[in-house]
Amino acid sequence: MAPLSFQSTQKMVSGYEIPVVGFGVYQTPPEVTEKVTIKALETGYRHIDSAKYYANEAQCAEAISKSGVPRSQIFYTTKVPASHMSYEKAKEAIEASIADAASIDYIDLVLLHAPFGGKEGRLGAWRALVEAQKTGKIRSIGVSNYGIHHLEELEAYINSGVGGQISVGQYEIHPWCAREDIVAWLKKRNVVVEAYSPLVQATRMNESSLQNLAKKHNKTPAQVLLRWSLQNGHVPLPKSVTDSRIVENTQVFDFELSQQDMDSLKTGVYAPVCWDPARDSHL
Ligand SMILES: NC(=O)c1ccc[n+]([C@@H]2O[C@H](COP(=O)([O-])OP(=O)(O)OC[C@H]3O[C@@H](n4cnc5c(N)ncnc54)[C@H](OP(=O)(O)O)[C@@H]3O)[C@@H](O)[C@H]2O)c1
Repeated sequence: MAPLSFQSTQKMVSGYEIPVVGFGVYQTPPEVTEKVTIKALETGYRHIDSAKYYANEAQCAEAISKSGVPRSQIFYTTKVPASHMSYEKAKEAIEASIADAASIDYIDLVLLHAPFGGKEGRLGAWRALVEAQKTGKIRSIGVSNYGIHHLEELEAYINSGVGGQISVGQYEIHPWCAREDIVAWLKKRNVVVEAYSPLVQATRMNESSLQNLAKKHNKTPAQVLLRWSLQNGHVPLPKSVTDSRIVENTQVFDFELSQQDMDSLKTGVYAPVCWDPARDSHL
């Protein structure tokens, strides 16, 4: 296998390629989204991860169309909000996202943001995605924050005839929330695993395990975390509104963590920093 580079991609079951690092824009205020997304594209990112819930889809599309980078080289993701988990509401949300992306013609990936809406709502929202994909305005589809029971419910529905393929599963994943069970389920089916909050929202930078590896490799704790994610085969989605960090988070292809380094980051701890619908027993 060729060594990983910033230009590397993974192939999804839809047949399309997805760049191995994405630029996240959760909590990026709309008024700075265009500027930081253009900075990211100038730095070489080719994958932007937004969501209707982030209220900055139009600004992402604007940045992509103004960047001067050919549209075909950029991968753009958005998500159907948890508040829109039914056939009708998901359809509405998808149409609105497509309208916001009019200047970039199509959306590479649309995910169901979280397994809300009860069984009927979840399956209805999936049907809306499958229909939208047929129009060509959406290329690939997938889910985020689905627990294994939600994934199995969806798999049964897909196999019952509604169709569609889960190209991507997006989850909070880092050494303090490795989600080995869900990752194994997804990998068995060749679903690309995206890692959100890969920097643990900057809450663990002083952990000794990270500090030690940062010193050993002459890298920052953030770069060690991103390398951990990539070497596990995930697609990390680091977020930053800071120019120097936007660059720093790409400089992760000139070093490698050894097996011993990777083992030193096995914490056995389950401590998500974001929400956790995958394990919410009410859903
Ligand atoms: N599907 C979902 O439910 C879901 C949930 C959460 C996130 N996501 C996606 O995943 C992306 C990333 O997750 P996240 O935003 O929760 O957290 P994250 O990427 O783990 O952390 C972002 C935080 O780390 C800081 N940071 C960035 N680079 C750094 C560096 N090199 N050194 C030190 N601090 C650094 C950022 O600060 P500055 O910005 O101030 O530089 C920000 O405070 C989101 O933007 C979104 O696209 C998806």
